[in-house]
Order: sequence, then structure tokens, then C-alpha cells
Amino acid sequence: MSATPFNTWMAATQARVETALSHHLPGTDSIPARLHEAMRYATLGGGKRVRPLLAFAAGELSGAAAEHLDIVACAVELIHAYSLVHDDLPCMDDDVLRRGRPTCHVEFDEPTALLVGDSLQTLAFELLAGQAIGHPKQQLEMIGLLAHASGSRGMAGGQAIDLASVGSALNQPELELMHALKTGALIRAAVLLGALSGTPLSAEERSNLDRFAKRAGLLFQVVDDILDCTASTATLGKTAGKDEAADKPTYVSLLGLDAARAYADELRTDALDALSIFGERARRLTELADFICHRQF
Ligand code: IPE
Ligand code: IPE
Ligand code: MG
Ligand code: MG
Ligand code: MG
Repeated sequence: MSATPFNTWMAATQARVETALSHHLPGTDSIPARLHEAMRYATLGGGKRVRPLLAFAAGELSGAAAEHLDIVACAVELIHAYSLVHDDLPCMDDDVLRRGRPTCHVEFDEPTALLVGDSLQTLAFELLAGQAIGHPKQQLEMIGLLAHASGSRGMAGGQAIDLASVGSALNQPELELMHALKTGALIRAAVLLGALSGTPLSAEERSNLDRFAKRAGLLFQVVDDILDCTASTATLGKTAGKDEAADKPTYVSLLGLDAARAYADELRTDALDALSIFGERARRLTELADFICHRQF
């Protein structure tokens, strides 16, 4: 296990993922050039790349090959980038700023943004099915997991609940379900796919990793809710204060800021506890749970 400091590992992995994404996205020299330009705009040159980082970190548990993790990381990040493009559309959150730049539909136009989402989503599966990754049985499972995490029983379903909940006061289990689906599902998929890219884990390891992945996914959105009302637009690179302005139920509106922070800390502790059976192999996942909890943007 490398003793590279977390920040160095993170920067190197982010750069590696950027290169892989750029390689796999269609070039602007191929038709339809404008759609390809918009796909690249929405995906490259920004974002924390938390899901790819989680995939690489989980791959350390199963000894996965970096070239296989490149594919998995790109597939998950493409689904995430698609979800952001659609999340920002006027018919959804109606946001004009993303990753410090105009949102895709503002920079291009709405029909293009819609098609960017469609195309990024299918590119993710084209990549994941396009070459052998790990054991064939595990690869099939990976494709199924990512599809499930993206659809109506995952991210898209969570987004539907989010939109239907505007103006209503959800209770904690309802809010937890919405968050687990709209954000948690894809984070969980990133972790599980990373681990599935290598040697199979034992049933006990897998169950602990799943517990970590679910806690980390919920933690990610709880912190997103907190940052929406505590951080500035300049720091976030997206419009701050949108949740309250749009009357969205969030952990902050349900619990208040202090209790939301305490809950985030509880989730972090539980996530770390689930990793204890892995020892030093889970070092990067442990560091990422801390990063997700304490991030400022
Ligand atoms: C924002 O995700 C949307 C949520 C699911 C909360 P990120 O905070 O990971 O956004 P980027 O990729 O870093 O821009
Ligand atoms: C977004 O949740 C979740 C998905 C994109 C699936 P938010 O709407 O809270 O994300 P931000 O705050 O716009 O990034
Ligand atoms: Mg939203
Ligand atoms: Mg949004
Ligand atoms: Mg948000």
C-alpha cells in the first residue's frame, strides 16, 4: 500500500480520470460536432470527481487493475455528469451555474442539454460493456448495478421524489429514501463497481463495503444540503441558497443546521466503522469519507 499523502493521490487520480474521460468522449471533429462539444463541456474541466475517486479507492480492496478502474470511473462519472445536466434544466432545478460555468442548457440550448444527458448515459454503458473487466460474471453484475442505480429505483427515481416534494415537509425516513436514491445510489454503485473490478470479496467483506457505500452516499447529500445554505456561490461553483429558495425539503430544513452537521458526523463514523475489517487496504476509502464529510464545496 502506497504511503502517498491523500491530496497527492487525489490530484493524480483526478488527472488520470480527466485524461480517460477526454479519451472516451467523442471528439468535436466528429458529427454531430455541436452535441459532442456540449458533451465534453458538461463532463470535462471541473467537478471533484468523487465517484471516480471512490471507484479507485474501492478497487484497492480487491486488487483491481488501474486500466479497468479507468473504465468504471468514467462510466460512473458520465452518468453523474448526465444527471447534473438534467438536474439543472429549467423543468427541474432551473440553475444557471454549474462547476463555476454557465450550465449546459445556458451555454448551448435546452434540446442540446437533453440530448447531452441521453448521450452521456448511453456512452457510460457502451464503455462498461465494451471490454473485459474483471470476471465476466462480475462484469455483468456491474452493468446491472449501474443501470439499477441510474433508473427509477435509483437516481432518476430520487429526482422524481425530489421534484414531487417541493413545498412539503418530509419526515426523516422519507427524506432518507429520497437522498439514498437521488445521490446515494450512484455513490454506492461507484464503490461496488470499483471493488467488483478485481478479485471477488468475501460475503462479509461485501456486506461491510455495502454498508460503507450506503452511509457514504447519504453523507454526501447531507453535506450537499448543508453547503447549499452555508457556502458561497463562488466557492460552490453553483448557485448557493437554492434549496431554501425553491422550498426543497433537506436535512437542514428538517433538522436545523447543527443537528444536520451532527447527523453527518454520525454517518461518517458509521461509514468508517464498516471499513474496519479491511484494515490498511481501506485507507483511501477512509480518507474519502473524511473528505466527503469535511469538504467545503
Ligand atoms: C452534486 O454532486 C450533485 C449531487 C449529487 C449532490 P457533486 O458535488 O459531486 O458535483 P461535482 O461533480 O463535484 O461538480
Ligand atoms: C442533485 O441534487 C442530485 C442529482 C443530480 C441526481 P441537487 O439538486 O441537490 O444537486 P445540486 O445541489 O444542484 O448540485
Ligand atoms: Mg436537484
Ligand atoms: Mg440541483
Ligand atoms: Mg444540492
